[in-house]
Amino acid sequence: MILVTGGAGFIGANFVLDWLAACNESIVNLDKLTYAGNLENLTSLRDNARHVFVQGDIGDRALVDDLLARHRPCAVINFAAESHVDRSIHGPAEFIETNVVGTFNLLEAVRAHWSALPADEQETFRFLHVSTDEVYGSLGPTDPAFSETTAYAPNSPYSASKAASDHLVRAYHHTYGLPVLTTNCSNNYGPLQFPEKLIPLVIHNALAGKSLPIYGDGSNVRDWLYVGDHCSAIRRVLEAGRVGETYNIGGCNEKTNLDVVNTLCAILDELHSGSPVTPHARLITFVKDRPGHDQRYAIDASKIERELGWTPSETFETGIRKTVAWYLAHQDWVNHVTSGEYRSWVSRNYADTHA
Ligand code: NAD
Ligand code: DAU
Repeated sequence: MILVTGGAGFIGANFVLDWLAACNESIVNLDKLTYAGNLENLTSLRDNARHVFVQGDIGDRALVDDLLARHRPCAVINFAAESHVDRSIHGPAEFIETNVVGTFNLLEAVRAHWSALPADEQETFRFLHVSTDEVYGSLGPTDPAFSETTAYAPNSPYSASKAASDHLVRAYHHTYGLPVLTTNCSNNYGPLQFPEKLIPLVIHNALAGKSLPIYGDGSNVRDWLYVGDHCSAIRRVLEAGRVGETYNIGGCNEKTNLDVVNTLCAILDELHSGSPVTPHARLITFVKDRPGHDQRYAIDASKIERELGWTPSETFETGIRKTVAWYLAHQDWVNHVTSGEYRSWVSRNYADTHA
């Protein structure tokens, strides 16, 4: 039995589905079901006795204590977070509440639980914290990629809150001996991603014939990793990662935002050729830049490859094609998640974004 937090969100749900398909251990899935958490992501598990879903907050100490005592998980994997940079700019408070205070609360509960375990269970227990490459800040065009020893320099309220949580996790290992692992991953894409993030937002808008908003001049660079590869990396770190270590995870796929959007448009032209808005690239619109927009992220993933033998399975070309095909085949899912709160977010974020 493992305890996963945030397992109804994009990466967490992909992780839960992959885990239950790949191994015999059961999962307790604790998720608050914020706007980003969606039980529809887990419908295929409705009759699966190996998946126990609990709606709740990682900041609820009594609930977390109870789950740890009742299920006695051999590992806790912390995906739960507020994850969208633009939302952190509009309203940072929830990012501090969940990403910093929530993680602190979880660590305190796990520390109390772990301290009371028999020695053999203490030895094998793991707390794996899922973090981001954004904690390292922004790179210039010729700077070397982020390694595990790059100094932290977070630039947004989101990345600062994740950096704070990473530091707490590190401190719980050094001070209390808690057996922690931290992963810092680059930009994920794939099925089940909420259409506030660049790739699903562009697919969603293109299918609706709406403009495709590119912040600034579109030259910002991100390293893209297919979500299934992130999940396999986390499984591998959990299985064989050295306690107290951090592992960078990336896809070796540096792309400008303009390249990503043009690639999406070309795939849509091909897979959705009957659309009245072909070529989709004519929907591209340059809008006002994100405040404090990091210019470039790049990941040096040589440590996880060298120590744990992990490499990604998908190239950007195979992963992005699968992703577009998934969104085309799951328009119902998109329609459900883009009703209600989504609309007010879009009108808030893009109200005044003309360049
Ligand atoms: P997401 O926003 O899609 O999902 C977050 C999930 O956490 C949701 O299901 C939400 O309901 C849940 N949640 C939020 N606050 C909670 C709380 N207080 N208690 C319990 N559950 C809560 O995020 P994601 O993109 O799946 O990211 C998951 C994790 O991976 C985050 O920690 C994020 O920082 C990290 N990460 C994301 C990316 C990426 O590209 N998306 C890359 C690297 C790391
Ligand atoms: O690097 C890992 C991080 O990647 C994760 O930690 C975050 O949780 C995740 O949201 C992601 O952050 P980004 O800010 O890089 O992702 P996003 O999809 O929001 O934006 C990707 C790039 O596209 C970024 O340079 C901003 C730009 N962008 C985004 C949106 C939503 C646009 O040009 N237009 C848009 O409308």
